[in-house]
Amino acid sequence: MKKKISFLLSVSALLIAGCATNQKATAQTTPSLKETFKNDFLIGTAMNTQQIEEKDPAADALIKQQFNAVTPENIMKAEIIQPGWDTYNFDLADKLVAYAQKNNIKVNAHTLIWHSQLPSFMRHMQSADSVKQYFEKHITTVASRYDGKVYSWDVVNEALNEDGTLRNSVFLRNLGDNYIVEAFRLAQKAAPNTLLYYNDYNIEQPKKRAGAIAIIKKIQAAGVRIDGVGIQGHWHMDNPPLQDIEQSIKEFSALGIKVAFTELDLSALPNPRGRANSADISNTAQYNEQANPYTKSFPDSAQQKLAKSYADIFNLFLKYKNNISRVTFWGVDDGQTWLNDFPVRGRTNHPLLFDRQYQPKPAFYSVIETKTKGSSAKAF
Ligand code: G3I
Repeated sequence: MKKKISFLLSVSALLIAGCATNQKATAQTTPSLKETFKNDFLIGTAMNTQQIEEKDPAADALIKQQFNAVTPENIMKAEIIQPGWDTYNFDLADKLVAYAQKNNIKVNAHTLIWHSQLPSFMRHMQSADSVKQYFEKHITTVASRYDGKVYSWDVVNEALNEDGTLRNSVFLRNLGDNYIVEAFRLAQKAAPNTLLYYNDYNIEQPKKRAGAIAIIKKIQAAGVRIDGVGIQGHWHMDNPPLQDIEQSIKEFSALGIKVAFTELDLSALPNPRGRANSADISNTAQYNEQANPYTKSFPDSAQQKLAKSYADIFNLFLKYKNNISRVTFWGVDDGQTWLNDFPVRGRTNHPLLFDRQYQPKPAFYSVIETKTKGSSAKAF
């Protein structure tokens, strides 16, 4: 009996060792996104708290192998980094900066002024004067601390409605419609060595794009620095809006700024009926089983559809590589994506290039092939 158990243990050990060697071999032979696109644009990923704390070794290996830019998914947002008037929480942001420095990765800091995820002390402010004081103090303190340590800032995030008008936020109501220019003016002063971006979703669509162009022109007319615009890129695998993306790259580039794709993911699940593409986190829907078809596996037909959409998008990015500074995925792997809980909680989504086992999907290889197999498209 003893002999039998020891034999079984040896076989299991061999199998485990074999698996580990295989995984290592896969990792060593997997191409690298950052290497593949090194002459084109930065390739980034969002990092969640677990990853920043280095508690996710498989994701950690992929981050180091695949990406040369990172964006903190949540930990530099106002409610986390400045939870009280005089209370700051810099630990995780400092850790991220140190991690990035050590691994030769650029940090896009996200985000200084956003209507969402504000600390409760700020949300309850009664007077315009208090909001103004908070606004100046937050931008100045946070941006100056990381100047020269982060590469770029999303200075203002999601200031627009879908029709291109300004969102009715606590900032617009209390500071008036010049607040975006003022945010960039303060950021420019506090962070002279950091690139400054306006970041939003759906600004590839004509009406919202016109709103973003108006914002950028207003900042420029005031003599204030803006270096780029971030198109978030929360799209869908069935309908990546290619013509709109192309037109946006042309129109934004014509303003003399860089274009970044800052939060790219292609949802593989049905959109709740009647809903337009949206990243507005208050815009949620009820769960139903038909809206969650890929809980056990992601079938080949869907893998191919996702792969084709990613290839179309990357062919376009390569065509405009001189205008594009960075392409960042909103997460490393499908297990981590916010789209598992948005717009419906508790679904199993598959929007990224690496699956829940951290393995490259067909979409990963289709992206790599846009470069290695070449594309004949030329810009303009
Ligand atoms: O940290 C708390 C945790 O303490 C608590 O136990 C848990 C319970 O739900 O919630 C945790 O906070 C969550 C946070 O993510 C961290 O995981 C929030 O509920 C959740 O709403 C939050 O979602 C984030 C969302 O922004 C809202 O701010 C997503 O992770 C993040 O991917 C998403 O990112 C935004 C970009 O910043 C801007 N563009 C759109 C994009 C997608 O919404």
